[in-house]
Amino acid sequence: MEAEKSVDLPVIVAIDGPAASGKSSVARRLAADLGFLHVNTGAMYRAFTWQVLQNGIDPRDTDAVSALLETTQFGLDVGGDTAVILINGVDPGGALQEAVVAANVSTIAANPDVRSRLVAEQRALGEARSVVMEGRDIGTVVFPATPHKFFIDARPEIRQARREAQGLVDSIHDRDRQDTSRKADPLRPAEGAEIIDTSDHDLEAVLAIVKERLAAQGLPF
Ligand code: CDP
Repeated sequence: MEAEKSVDLPVIVAIDGPAASGKSSVARRLAADLGFLHVNTGAMYRAFTWQVLQNGIDPRDTDAVSALLETTQFGLDVGGDTAVILINGVDPGGALQEAVVAANVSTIAANPDVRSRLVAEQRALGEARSVVMEGRDIGTVVFPATPHKFFIDARPEIRQARREAQGLVDSIHDRDRQDTSRKADPLRPAEGAEIIDTSDHDLEAVLAIVKERLAAQGLPF
């Protein structure tokens, strides 16, 4: 990883948006270019969903899910450029992208107990070091005070096509509906976020827009 550049620490760049909008690619590249840690909070919700399913628990059984949460340890391996989520010391790896995880993650993510636990873990990370953190509620809930907020979007048919091109089975329409309509921390652009529609832009073009704004805000590009 590149050495951290001389900015006041820690700096939080918040990148939110719906499924397959391109936010992960932007967040990963931006983190590498800034020398910050990349944190994909979706991977945390996916990892706990995997844990729920491994334990044979129905994701809709909120009491059982909350009880499992009490006995689950979340760890982060921050040795590389991207934080790797560990559940009771185990990296679920490729299981995070499985169709069954994708089909159940929004149900788990709607559970307020799960959200408050993961939000606390995310805040602790961002308080310790500069991060580019991506998710659904980073600018609205996790770090509302950061001035560096982006909402990455794309037309639904483009997002579905991007996910299929990755060879993944994922009903992004259902997840979007659940993520925007839930009571706890629904997906919506944060106040002050720059909204970028990536439908007709490639990654480099989106990065240029993001970096231009961050530079205007005083970050070193
Ligand atoms: O990468 P993709 O856009 O497919 O989704 P993800 O970032 O891996 O997130 C998976 C799911 O986790 C989302 O559909 C949300 O239900 C949930 N999530 C959330 O509620 N809050 C976050 N900060 C991040 C993800």
